[in-house]
Amino acid sequence: TDALKIGIAGLGTVGASLAKILAERDNMLAIACGRAIRVTAVTARDKTRDRGVDLSNAQWFDNPIEMAKSADIDVFVELMGGAGDPAHAAVEAALTRGLHVVTANKALLAAHGVKLAALAEEKGSILNFEAAVAGGIPVIKALRESLTGNTVSRVYGIMNGTCNYILTRMEKEGLSFADCLKDAQRLGYAEADPTFDIEGNDTAHKLSILTSLAFGTEIAADDIYLEGISNISIEDIRAAADLRYKIKLLGVAQKTDSGIEQRVHPTMVPRDSVIAQVDSVTNAVAIESDVLGELLMVGPGAGGNATASAVMGDIADIAKARPGAQVAPALGRPAKSLAPYTRAG
Ligand code: NDP
Ligand code: HSE
Repeated sequence: TDALKIGIAGLGTVGASLAKILAERDNMLAIACGRAIRVTAVTARDKTRDRGVDLSNAQWFDNPIEMAKSADIDVFVELMGGAGDPAHAAVEAALTRGLHVVTANKALLAAHGVKLAALAEEKGSILNFEAAVAGGIPVIKALRESLTGNTVSRVYGIMNGTCNYILTRMEKEGLSFADCLKDAQRLGYAEADPTFDIEGNDTAHKLSILTSLAFGTEIAADDIYLEGISNISIEDIRAAADLRYKIKLLGVAQKTDSGIEQRVHPTMVPRDSVIAQVDSVTNAVAIESDVLGELLMVGPGAGGNATASAVMGDIADIAKARPGAQVAPALGRPAKSLAPYTRAG
């Protein structure tokens, strides 16, 4: 079988980690997938920057949309970020051309995921996005594949590594919010615009994707009740501790009599609960469904390698897929009603 040719758009924290891992593991992946995986095209803003990996065999593109339209690739891997262009136009162009797409971009999916999934389906392409929610935790696979036939009643969890890292260090080391955020940025956890992390938008993007998969709703990230952690002080964390609670930024989506309720806000969780033990950049996603019961997945939620691991898995799935094999269900079907969350009190 021919090698699977991939183009990587974005060579930052995630893209550079992915390129390194693919290079280091080419034999292992070829054996696991039954065919080689080759990086044949790359793009980023700065052509001169050393990415810590030899990319001289890949064609360089200055423009990601151009790469999506004309590169000699089977899979377009979007790791640039942002809900708008060039990420949106590039993914659209790649799918229009019949390429498969892998992305870690939850902002893009929260804004355009349903349309992009429909386009992929129309073209018979695979659109994979495991890394878009909870980093390396295979929560998309769980919802799209493992839980097929279950009726989900609730999905909730810690879905932003930056916020959990900040809250943990404030609690354990008494460090300031600003210092913890700087470290999260240095470690490659934070979004290009970190207000998306600390104001809860990133968690809302992720929750909206999970809601769509769990309940078959349209993606409605803008309708989510949203409260971030930027106003949480060390005093708040200590006051919660006095009552035997910890503060975690949770995303929650659950079935109610009036539809699916979605909300993101700092939450006091009992200190002895499992979710309270989930610290630092670790994420946790709980899914409650009727046949299985409660599933709790805990693992690395951000960072180059954790995220690249999920992207690598998505690429490997495409390499292994037989032509015409059934594609996992798309986002946003069938539409059901979403209930606005009204804060009690
Ligand atoms: P970075 O900011 O580290 O990297 C972004 C990359 O995209 C850079 O290489 C940049 O080029 C390139 N890029 C940005 N804009 C353009 C453009 N207009 N044209 C061409 N290239 C462009 O981001 P991350 O690697 O952290 O994140 C990438 C994606 O993965 C985002 O969608 C993010 O939300 C998502 N994600 C990130 C996680 C993480 O832990 N970091 C975890 C899960 C998902 P240059 O380097 O030249 O500036
Ligand atoms: N900025 C995100 C986070 C990256 O901190 O969780 C992973 O999606």
